[in-house]
Amino acid sequence: MMIEHLKAQFPAGPKGMPILGVVSKISKQGMVDFYYSVWKEYGDIAHMMAGPLHQFLLVRPDDIHHVMVKNADNYMKLTSHAKLRAILGNGLLPTEGDTLWRRQRKLMQPTYTPNGIRQFADIMVDAGEQLTAKWHQKYADGKPFDLNLAMLEVTMSIISRSMFGIDISDDFAETGHALIELLEYVSNTASSIFDVPLFVPTPRNVRVKQAKEHIDAYIMGIIQTRRKEGLGNDLLSMLMSAKDEETGEMMTDEQLRDEVLITFFAGHETTASMLTWLYYFLAQHPADEQKLHEELASVLGGKRPTLEDLSSLKYTRMLMDETLRLRSPVFITVRDAIEDDVIAGYTVPKGSMVLIYPFGTHRHPDYWERPDEFYPDHFLPEVANERPRYAYYPFGAGPRICIGNHFALMEGAILIATISQAFRIRIQNTHEIGLKSVGVLKPSEPIIATVEAR
Ligand code: HEM
Repeated sequence: MMIEHLKAQFPAGPKGMPILGVVSKISKQGMVDFYYSVWKEYGDIAHMMAGPLHQFLLVRPDDIHHVMVKNADNYMKLTSHAKLRAILGNGLLPTEGDTLWRRQRKLMQPTYTPNGIRQFADIMVDAGEQLTAKWHQKYADGKPFDLNLAMLEVTMSIISRSMFGIDISDDFAETGHALIELLEYVSNTASSIFDVPLFVPTPRNVRVKQAKEHIDAYIMGIIQTRRKEGLGNDLLSMLMSAKDEETGEMMTDEQLRDEVLITFFAGHETTASMLTWLYYFLAQHPADEQKLHEELASVLGGKRPTLEDLSSLKYTRMLMDETLRLRSPVFITVRDAIEDDVIAGYTVPKGSMVLIYPFGTHRHPDYWERPDEFYPDHFLPEVANERPRYAYYPFGAGPRICIGNHFALMEGAILIATISQAFRIRIQNTHEIGLKSVGVLKPSEPIIATVEAR
């Protein structure tokens, strides 16, 4: 392509060591602190070398729009997502290209529309009620517990019941454990820089491989049973009956298996993380908690939430939006440049890794009145409408936007409505909690909660 009006060099950035570049700094500081310090020191576009690769850190809405939307065809998930594909297979999240990603996305899109997922509302309310019943039994006396683990349990239950009508964590202890072992491994290796490749038979690698074989066989078993005995009305059945209108093509069993696995990976930790942080913030902001309680009282008055109620839970939605602003579970995401390009006047050579950094955009003082504070009024409609579109993108943007975003927001609203009508959650950690990246953005220590019945 023609490249005109280029600035002389790459944007400024940290220098790093010969050959390794910034890799050792990232591994020493951790991804969250490292990239934050780069943004603070070098500004909204920074350049560094990670081994032989150019890396560009992007924060400005225009640059995010350029990479994720306008010139999205030039920014793909190739080398950057190889590890994920090697472990999880060819599900939607880590794949690329017309035959894999585009075909799959087209087949799956109708399943995940607001209309497609309506039927899962009841599963979500039931799971929320089971959770509150359990909390009444186990924690009503003020016994402390790990809040994120409790949220992971409920989101895993929801995604597995929606996927195939089975609560993996309840009924299939072995499968539940295998799935958790595998997903933990994936989260750790996806965000680690040095790791022992899976083919080296360390005890952990052997366990992970066995877990993967177990899960693959388990999912395949369910798919084959469906083929023999007929489809139900769960996510898996919707995916099994998805047909490309032009070509008549449907998914193979292997493709279905990979999509099921990737949905577990993409769809349960992210939502659990949103809920954990939301309650962490609410415990520190009693006035916002009070507003939530008032909204729940006026819209629901103590009854079970239904799908129809959700559009009236506007403040609940603002709380989720604000939590996702400060604690985007996907706090950074990566693409590989296919051809040379120009971003903000700088050359981006072919093969560069482009880092899209919502953690910075979402705290940028140009777009947020109180960048570092939990302030749900950032999402009052009249305030939000004034903001550039790509100043906020917790679900990504463009063609690769999160396919499960409606599912996640519906699940979040239903669980918040169910939990907060029954309990107030109090956080026992007395100091500010740090952040680390393990696949998704996580607290650096367990968030310990107690509950008070309302
Ligand atoms: C609060 C919860 C969630 C957040 C913040 C979130 C965030 C994201 C983000 C940022 C991406 C784009 C990544 C990129 O561009 O590299 C993504 C993709 C994806 N998400 Fe989510 N997600 C959430 C929940 C879910 C749920 C519940 C599901 C499934 C039921 C899901 C399934 C997926 C899939 C399959 C993709 C890949 C889409 C594609 O590449 O075409 N996510 N998510």
